[in-house]
Amino acid sequence: MAVSDKVVELAKRRGFFTVSSEIYGGIAGFYDYGAYGTLLKRKLENLWRKYFVGMDENFFEIEASNIMPEKVFEGSGHITNFVDPVAKCKKCGTFHRADQIMEEFLHENFEGKTVEELTQLIKKHNVKCSRCKGELGDVSVLNMMFPLAMGAGKDTVAYLRPETAQGAYVNFLRHFNILRMRLPLGLAIIGKAFRNEISPRQLLLRQREFTQAELQIFFDPREVEEHDNWKEVAKYKLIIYHAKKMEKISCDDANKKMKIPKFYLYYLAKMQKFFLDELNIPEKKFRLRKLTDEEKAFYNKVHFDIEIQLEELGWKEVAGCHYRTDHDLKGHQLVSGQSQEIFYNEKKFIPHVLELSFGVDRILYSLLELNYAEDKDRVYLKLPAKLSPFTLAVFPLVNKDKIPKKAEEIFEELKKHFDAIYDDSGSIGKRYYRQDEISTPVTITCDYQTISENTVTIRDRDSTHQIRVNTKNLKTVLTKFLEGENLERLGKTVK
Ligand code: GAP
Repeated sequence: MAVSDKVVELAKRRGFFTVSSEIYGGIAGFYDYGAYGTLLKRKLENLWRKYFVGMDENFFEIEASNIMPEKVFEGSGHITNFVDPVAKCKKCGTFHRADQIMEEFLHENFEGKTVEELTQLIKKHNVKCSRCKGELGDVSVLNMMFPLAMGAGKDTVAYLRPETAQGAYVNFLRHFNILRMRLPLGLAIIGKAFRNEISPRQLLLRQREFTQAELQIFFDPREVEEHDNWKEVAKYKLIIYHAKKMEKISCDDANKKMKIPKFYLYYLAKMQKFFLDELNIPEKKFRLRKLTDEEKAFYNKVHFDIEIQLEELGWKEVAGCHYRTDHDLKGHQLVSGQSQEIFYNEKKFIPHVLELSFGVDRILYSLLELNYAEDKDRVYLKLPAKLSPFTLAVFPLVNKDKIPKKAEEIFEELKKHFDAIYDDSGSIGKRYYRQDEISTPVTITCDYQTISENTVTIRDRDSTHQIRVNTKNLKTVLTKFLEGENLERLGKTVK
């Protein structure tokens, strides 16, 4: 069975995520997260928040509306440029994304090809409708935004935002003035984005409603060749995929040889570190893909995608580092008629934007797949402890004598310091199985020895090894273990 199928089964069994509106047959491109999935997602978002918003005293999180008026997207260029190439089947009427249908046919990337090129390719390779084998018509474009008819008269045209970014751009000037009137200024938004994907697929990877975590860094373009903390990353090696080759190259060399600005490289390095050091993505399954001019998004001057290699789906984009220049602010200035210029360092100008953009659901799915593990008939998720829905579980060995009362006392105490869950249903084996599947790194069992000598057992999810420790040392032992100390060194091994 393919790993992705196993992950879907596990996700369903434990309620990480499921198809939305399932009792009505589901709806393509929409997913709901259950209790454990939501806990995991919040932890991922909080880790992102702490890491990226915490990078600079002048970075802040804001919240902006999901619905924005049409003018916003005239200003940003989405009305004209946020389109997908589509080919309609002449027989059954199904629309296909032309670049994707070519990719499925020739196993190459066709992103960024023009409609004329795609029409020619479809004809040349005689590509047919995947549903009915009918002939495909010429390729045209379809806008990917969801329009809304708002209000009784339905005369106010608005859209569901296709990216969180615009919420930061339309608010930039106000926040620049309210905050410290200093650059770089970072405005982060974690929230929903909506896209009318023609063929939503690959589970959480191509949805019509999904979560983005995006940080917009507004800076002075005269300072693009510097960063106060450049030294911190100068020797750090980036894992770059470019011109069909993978290479490890220091930020210094990427600046000198690839001519990528230092300001950009500093944050690209931070993004790589987030994936490798915070999310524990193996280096071999990670790369920064430099996009060619024809692949780059319409608003970007420099564009790297961050990709993770999945078992069956291959390399998948999960995030991007985008040098958007003054594209968006300039567009909003033009359409709104309101100047977006600031006076800073003795000059009047429109700031440039570096965008760090992440797809939360794609990262979450990748984490589930990369951490899925089997050990004989045991299934477990070896997520880093800081991401596991619960950090620990407390079990009473049996539900009788004085054991449940003692276990509850221990649970209540641990709950003050850790994300803990209490579980007293089913056999102890079943409870271990359940916690392993939802990735709980440690389980604590209270037994008769807890009553007689005040000790409990602690079990490590990954090795299944157990130690016995005194309850008065429990908090210290658990803290050390969760910080990476070997379990066997923290207590008496249980055979
Ligand atoms: N603000 C820039 C922007 O939106 P993007 O590359 O279009 O850039 C950013 O999207 C991230 O959002 C992607 O790297 C991906 O992780 C995620 N994403 C994009 N489309 C998605 C979809 N249909 N379903 C799930 N995630 C998606």
